[in-house]
Amino acid sequence: MKNRFIFLSSCLLSAMLLFSCKDNNKESEEKTTEVTTQSDTDFRPAFHFTPEENWMNDPNGMFFLNGTYHLFFQYYPDGNTWGPMHWGHATSKDLIKWEEKPIALEPDEQGYIFSGSAVVDTENTSGFGDGKTPPVIAMFTYHDPKGEEEGRDDYQTQAIAYSLDEGKTFTKYEGNPVIENPGIRDFRDPKITRDEVHDQWVMVLSANDQTMFYTSQNLKDWKLVSEFGRGIGAHGGVWECPDFIHMKVEGSDQKKWVLIQSLNPGGFNGGSGTQYFVGEFDGKTFTLDESMKDLSEDHNYWLDFGKDNYAGVTWTNIPEEDGRHLFMGWMSNWQYANEVPTETWRSAMTIARELKLTKTGETYRIVSTPVAELQKYKGQKFTKNSIAVEGKTQIANSEDIDLSQSVISFEIEDLKDQEYDFSLTSGGDDVLKFGYDHKAEKFYIDRSNSGLTGFNENFGDKISTAPRLSDDSNLEVKAVLDNMSIELFFDNGKTVMTEIFFPEQPINSFTAEGNDFSIKNLTINEVKLN
Ligand code: FRU
Repeated sequence: MKNRFIFLSSCLLSAMLLFSCKDNNKESEEKTTEVTTQSDTDFRPAFHFTPEENWMNDPNGMFFLNGTYHLFFQYYPDGNTWGPMHWGHATSKDLIKWEEKPIALEPDEQGYIFSGSAVVDTENTSGFGDGKTPPVIAMFTYHDPKGEEEGRDDYQTQAIAYSLDEGKTFTKYEGNPVIENPGIRDFRDPKITRDEVHDQWVMVLSANDQTMFYTSQNLKDWKLVSEFGRGIGAHGGVWECPDFIHMKVEGSDQKKWVLIQSLNPGGFNGGSGTQYFVGEFDGKTFTLDESMKDLSEDHNYWLDFGKDNYAGVTWTNIPEEDGRHLFMGWMSNWQYANEVPTETWRSAMTIARELKLTKTGETYRIVSTPVAELQKYKGQKFTKNSIAVEGKTQIANSEDIDLSQSVISFEIEDLKDQEYDFSLTSGGDDVLKFGYDHKAEKFYIDRSNSGLTGFNENFGDKISTAPRLSDDSNLEVKAVLDNMSIELFFDNGKTVMTEIFFPEQPINSFTAEGNDFSIKNLTINEVKLN
C-alpha cells in the first residue's frame, strides 16, 4: 500500500517536471501506445457513473437528502492516473442517472482528501447547524504526502467538514484533525453510521490489519472503543474502506450488524476485494456470529467474487419508509486500475445495488441485486420462453436487440452434473465467457480473449471463479452489461461477479454451449438512459 502511494506520488512529481508516469517508464510507454492504437472505441459505459474526465477511485460520502442521492468519489482532476486526491461529487434522483457537480473537497496543507463518509445530522448533534438546513457532516482521511515521504508512520489522520447547503459546498472544521494518528501507517477511510440502539454515532476505521470502532455524541469528539479482525478472515493485504450496517434478517424480526471490509491485495480472485462479517454489537464491541467463528483466510463471505468491485459502501440517511441498504463500489482493481485502456476518463462505479441479509439454517449471507430503479430505463425487449441448447447455440444477436447495454435474465431448470457455458462476442473475435460448472459447483468469468488485455499482466491471465452458495436445483442468472462491464448476479444475488473488459467492437452476439439443456424465461432488456 505504502509503495503504491509513494510510486504514484513520485509520478506526480515527475509530472510537474513535464514528464508523465508513462514517459518515465519506457516499457510501459510502449505498452500503452500499442494498446491504444488497437482501438478507437469509446468504452465509456452508458448507465454506470464515470467522471466526465480524469481519474476516479472509491465512492465516498454517500448520503440521501430531500429526494437526492449524493455520491462523492476519490478524484484527481488533473490527470488520468491516481494523484492528489479530491472528493468529486455527483447527484442523482434515482441512483442510475447521475449529474456531475463541482469538486466538493480539495487537498490543503494537511494533506490529500482520502476516502470517507457523510451523515445528515438531523438533530444537530454537532452544533454546526444554522437552524434552517440539517448539517451534513463529512468525515475523511487526511493523507499527508510529506509525512509519507519522510518515512513517518503517522501521516494519515481523520478530519471532518460540514455543509449547510445539502452537500453542495463544505467547510473544513477548524479543529481538524479530530483523530490523531497513534503511529499506524495504514489508518484510514472513516465510515460513520447512526446507532439508534445505543443512541450514538459509530465510526469504523481501517487500521492496517483490523477495524477500529469509535463512538461519538457530537461527530467531533471520538472515542476508540474496540478493535476487530486481527487473525480473522482474509488478510492477504491491507484492510481499507470499512462499512458497518444494522440489517434486518429477511423473513424475520431479527437484526444483525454487518461489517463490510475491503482489502488490497488478497481479494478472492487476486488484488482488491471486499469481504464481510456478520455479528452483534453491544455499543462498543463487535462480536462475530457463532456461525462464522474461526473464519479462515480462504472463506467465502465476499460481497462480490469478481475482480472489479472494490471499496464499496452504503448510503446513509435512507428514509425509514424506504429502508433499503443501498451499495455502490468502484469497478476496478488496484492491480491494473491505472493502466486500463481509456484516456479521457478512468474508472466507473458499479451499478447501485440493494443489499439484503438472509439466513439459511445457521448461515447468514448478504445477497445483492441491482436497484429496482434500473428497470425504469428499458429500451427494446427480447424474450423467449424456452431455448434448447445443443452444442453451440445462438441465443440472441444484434438483429434481435442491442446487447452492449442490456440486462439479460434467464433460468436453467434441473441442473445436471455438467458445464453451462455462455459467450458474449463482439464484431471482431473478442469473446467474454462466463458460466457454471455444476459438478464443481463453481461459476466463472473468462476475459482472456475479451479484447484489450495486454495493458497489464494481471488483467486477462486467470479465469475468475466463484462458489455457488445455493443448493437450489434451478439456477437464475442476471447479467448487467454496459459496454465495458459485466455484473453477474447468480441465484438472485447469492453469488455476484463483477468484471470489466475492453472489446474492440461492441458486443453483438450471445451464445450458449453445453450438453442438451434448456434456457428458460429469457428476457433481454436494453438499458437506455434517455
Ligand atoms: C482504497 C484506497 C483507500 C484510500 C483511497 C486513496 O482504494 O486505497 O484506502 O483512502 O483509496 O485514494
